[in-house]
Amino acid sequence: MRKLLIVGSGGREHAIAWSLRNTGSERGELFCAPGNAGIAQVAQVVDIRVDEHEELAAFAESQRIDLTFVGPEAPLATGIVDLFESRGLPIVGPTRAAARLEGSKIFAKEFMSRHAVPTAAFRTADSPSDAVAHIKTGEFGPADSAVVIKADGLAAGKGVVVAASHAEAEKAIEDLMVHHSAGKEAAQQVVIEQALTGREASVLVFADGRDYAVMPAARDHKRIGENDTGPNTGGMGTITDASVLDKAWQWRVVKDMVEPTLAGAEREGFPFKGVLFLGVMLTTDGPKLLEYNVRFGDPETQAILVRLKTDLGQIFQAIREGTLGRLKVEWAGGASACVVAANRGYPGKYESGAEIQGLEAIDESRVHVFHAGTSHAPNGKVIATGGRVLGVTAAADDLSGALDLCYESLGKISWPGMQFRRDIGRPLVSLADVESL
Ligand code: AMP
Ligand code: GLY
Repeated sequence: MRKLLIVGSGGREHAIAWSLRNTGSERGELFCAPGNAGIAQVAQVVDIRVDEHEELAAFAESQRIDLTFVGPEAPLATGIVDLFESRGLPIVGPTRAAARLEGSKIFAKEFMSRHAVPTAAFRTADSPSDAVAHIKTGEFGPADSAVVIKADGLAAGKGVVVAASHAEAEKAIEDLMVHHSAGKEAAQQVVIEQALTGREASVLVFADGRDYAVMPAARDHKRIGENDTGPNTGGMGTITDASVLDKAWQWRVVKDMVEPTLAGAEREGFPFKGVLFLGVMLTTDGPKLLEYNVRFGDPETQAILVRLKTDLGQIFQAIREGTLGRLKVEWAGGASACVVAANRGYPGKYESGAEIQGLEAIDESRVHVFHAGTSHAPNGKVIATGGRVLGVTAAADDLSGALDLCYESLGKISWPGMQFRRDIGRPLVSLADVESL
């Protein structure tokens, strides 16, 4: 019997745990550190935080864990995979060197340049005056044009500002570099980047260092408000269906981005093993890479994994052994959706602690309620403790079927302060319209 450990505590990790159970033929033991109230239904939760690498390694050692999988980026960027490997503990994920693709925007942009991966034109700066000077040269267009400022380091979603004008960009530079709006460390250096327009897609692949398997492309909904208004969040909902990325565009993403990235990483001495996530902008000038993430997306994972047919544990094993090229990774056809329900106030300071009603009314054979920020109250009830609380997720033959299942279920769930977007998956302009922009 195999023993698996998942590191993390969000909706992504709940979906991974559920998928290991749902797709796996064997019924091994599953642990999750630190987990949440929903994860506790499918795995044994262990009270160790994701940044306690030594404690996690000691747990894996004492429990003789057969495979550890890491959800979030922070432990990857700080070398949890290297630590486990140095102790001979089996783990799947990128090393610290490979995780620089997400951990440093400057490293990522320079890597894209070295390997001719299409991306927005950019400059880097290590002082506010340098950054402003780059904008003043005019290479990012006239003063009324948009320009993007990105903190170099990990900033939990607060490090990117799409500024509508150069004046706004100068303010963003000051906020990031002088007032440390994304933390003290993250914006020691910044990237100044050409603003692109088009449609975004999240393209995730399993990679074993050389071979890869592409997952169904997903569309995230980052803003808190309907019609993409209000501040950015970690993601308020996702869909997968054929409209997100058609075959021709997918082929270009694979040939122009995925393959050169994996080959480049191998050549530079850090073969990429794990889940590689490409944030892509589909522009009139072809796909452009906005960013790499070195992990599953949240809430992309929820919508993606409900379509997985192949044993996820077997995929992880193949990544570890470098045999992904021999494994056929299969997906259910059709579409899927995940609608996130959050606490009032999110993504700012949010309410917390209300009891969630109605979870028992959900038809679990068709709808999966992945928990993000939930806990058990002392009386055993499930309470809404995080910003994002639940990801209500379903697959169906088509997108409207999947969305209907999600929204019907959301109608049965409630707590004081619950908020969610009612427009997840609403059709966007078609790619033909993008062509004519
Ligand atoms: P990133 O963390 O780099 O993906 O940036 C977060 C979000 O900022 C992306 O999902 C885009 O919506 C937006 N963004 C990033 N780079 C650009 C760009 N060059 N042009 C327009 N929008 C961008
Ligand atoms: N949903 C975007 C991310 O996981 O980064």
